[in-house]
Amino acid sequence: MEEKKARSTFSSLGFVLAAAGSAVGLGNLWRFPYLAAKDGGGLFILIYLVLVLSFGFALMTSEIALGRKTQKSPVAAFGEIGKTWKFVGWGATIIPALIIPYYAAIGGWVCKYAFTYLTGHGRDAVDASGGFFQTAIGITADGSVAWQPILWFFIFITATFIIVYLGVENGIEKASVILMPILLIIIIFIAGYSTFVKDEVSGRTALQGLSIYLVPNFKGLTLVKFLNIVLDAMGQMFYSLSLAMGIMITYGSYMKKDSSMPKSINQIELFDTGIALLAGFIMVPTVYCFLGEEGLGSAGPSLMFIALPQVFNGMGSFGLVIGALFFVLVIFAALTSCISLMEAVTATIMDRFNQSRKVSVIITYAIALVIGLIVCLGYNKFLFEVSFASVSGGQILDILDWATNSFLMPIVAILTCIVVGWVWGTDKALEEVQLNGEKFPRKPIFVVMTKYIAPVLLFIILLNSFGLFG
Ligand code: PFF
Repeated sequence: MEEKKARSTFSSLGFVLAAAGSAVGLGNLWRFPYLAAKDGGGLFILIYLVLVLSFGFALMTSEIALGRKTQKSPVAAFGEIGKTWKFVGWGATIIPALIIPYYAAIGGWVCKYAFTYLTGHGRDAVDASGGFFQTAIGITADGSVAWQPILWFFIFITATFIIVYLGVENGIEKASVILMPILLIIIIFIAGYSTFVKDEVSGRTALQGLSIYLVPNFKGLTLVKFLNIVLDAMGQMFYSLSLAMGIMITYGSYMKKDSSMPKSINQIELFDTGIALLAGFIMVPTVYCFLGEEGLGSAGPSLMFIALPQVFNGMGSFGLVIGALFFVLVIFAALTSCISLMEAVTATIMDRFNQSRKVSVIITYAIALVIGLIVCLGYNKFLFEVSFASVSGGQILDILDWATNSFLMPIVAILTCIVVGWVWGTDKALEEVQLNGEKFPRKPIFVVMTKYIAPVLLFIILLNSFGLFG
């Protein structure tokens, strides 16, 4: 008879680095700096910090406590509280399953940029009109199929697959323990270097741009604008901390009972927020320095994929080295996040359908390959026109992003607060958090946030997703 295998576990450091690896990703490196520049610099940062330390912290605590208590992945974990709540776990599993394909497609674009810089062709990526970027993502003028994005997507998703296949200790923990410290060193180095650059043509320095990033800008601030900044910060915080996606429940289920939960949570928050702040520290001042205020208007992908290569170019020949380091850093960040997404789905298949890791991860990989292929082809002119994307006006990637982050995520998060706060009860959650007599100074914040404030704020995020606040 087959013996039931003990659940895999992370070491204390392994847990923090794996969870931080999940949290630190494209959201920190490209979305945070862009939002900070758009939303009043220091004002956005201040609001973001308050939200991470209260709201984000409460939800992260709920999820990790639920995972460690039940030692199960999301569906089974919610099922332990009551069979009725299993659907919340399913919701939390569908989200990463839908995020993986588009996250890996973007990971593929980053690989293409890193390859270009590492092979000494960084200047090819400098194209203010975005031609290089269009080729990288597969927009072809005649509707022919572009193979490059598919190839790079395949490389990225396969690397993710191999690490998850190797398991919790030998794959995820090892990858996180190696990649996260390197990532930290690279980002500190780039931040240090880029603070002192100067554009000889315009005479601007990065140090001048630092004030745009750090000083709160109240110019033209109205109540509606302020609310929109708060909403931007809330959405960003959720995405950045990998909340409401089943991940912290799954990783919590691998946390050792003698690891300190309050300390680990502090460290994950610090890591994630620190990297986001450093990314802004690099991008906002340098883009201002080399491209002026208009450069800071670059929304979404164009900030990282079109504006930054121009910045690296402006830094002279050493800029190409910085560019290579930067895109390698982005690969590491995206990879550790994608690993966590794939693990959340894999663990659910393993627990729910009693399958081996091997079978479960192959199923997850296969689903990701199919949907990812569709995402990559979504930029093809011909396929775009015949697909439903043309009706909604967005790319398939944008549709998946909206459906997961703006629609499903707030719903799952509201339900998580209700189930943990009212059904399971914050007292039970606190027992798990304070196991072994751990001190938990933010206990009152956790209780009030989870039970009362977070569900209301989440409901507002949900309404905002449907454009109710303009
Ligand atoms: N937190 C990651 C980021 O900031 O890019 C992205 C992410 C990973 C989102 C895992 C959601 C998730 F479940």
